[in-house]
Amino acid sequence: MRDSLSGLKERALRELASVGSTQELREFQLRFLGKKGELKAVLRGMGKLPPEERPTVGRMANQIKELLERAIEEKEALLRQREEKERLASEGIDVTLPGRGPEMGGVHPITRVLREIEDVFVSMGFQVAEGPEIETDYYNFEALNIPSHHPARDMQDTFYLLEGLLLRTHTSPVQIRVMERFSPPIRIIAPGKVYRRDADISHTPMFHQVEGLLVDEVSTFSDLKGVLERFASRTFGPRTLVRFRPSYFPFTEPSAEMDIGCVICGGKGCRVCKGSGWVEILGCGMVDPAVFSFVNYDSSRYRGFAFGLGVERIAMLKYDIDDIRLFFENDLRFLKQFL
Ligand code: PHE
Repeated sequence: MRDSLSGLKERALRELASVGSTQELREFQLRFLGKKGELKAVLRGMGKLPPEERPTVGRMANQIKELLERAIEEKEALLRQREEKERLASEGIDVTLPGRGPEMGGVHPITRVLREIEDVFVSMGFQVAEGPEIETDYYNFEALNIPSHHPARDMQDTFYLLEGLLLRTHTSPVQIRVMERFSPPIRIIAPGKVYRRDADISHTPMFHQVEGLLVDEVSTFSDLKGVLERFASRTFGPRTLVRFRPSYFPFTEPSAEMDIGCVICGGKGCRVCKGSGWVEILGCGMVDPAVFSFVNYDSSRYRGFAFGLGVERIAMLKYDIDDIRLFFENDLRFLKQFL
């Protein structure tokens, strides 16, 4: 019995030396001194000893118990100190690291392209005009030579509001509002939001246009072409090809649509230009005399030209974006590419 007690002591002290954490120390303590521990197990054999030997063996067991308890205490203090040190080291703050700083916001790609377009026309002497997004039938259609029942109203799926109001389907009503207030010469652009009942990969119910209007005693289709060619080369690069195709708008006569040589494939043909090598970017024409009569301009004295372009379309071509909806989904992964 004494032998097994001193054997236990030796073993316990040896094992204690290799205990490496307070967690392990708890396990060690349970294993040797716990209710189901090894010391208790040895002591359970006491009953079989002759009575005269019991006190000595009992004393010996007690000594071992106290010895181990003290050793455990010392070890615990040591381990705690070490673990505290490690914890402090791992939680330490490196005050020399550069700070994280607040994230910077940026200008939305549409706003950015809109500003670029404005700059191009402002540098050619155009002034920026604005008009309301909620319009009357008169400004959006009537005064632009689109009477009710005119088939051209079908071209634009209008959002109608109460009391004869509607969401403007284009920025052309600003032409009328400007001519009502000022006499020629007029040289304005009107950027802004427009609305149509349309939604797919190349249409959103709200998008942006920039309208242009120039009225003077002398203004020709060549002037119109010159202005728009300058716009194309400033926006898409100096070697950008342009072409004008005859078209129809009730408020211009003659009317045209301008295409640019596809900037995605360089004119070879791709999904964006649908294989044609050209993409349409705007509508334009000479102001129809019928429009002048709505604003009491003398059409024997004045000529004008007008154009209207879609900002999203320009932005999509400029940045090779194939889905217009990306502009309005507010996905930061998309928006951050334009910072
Ligand atoms: N308002 C026309 C549209 O939205 C574009 C346009 C403007 C055409 C001015 C000619 C002149 O489609």
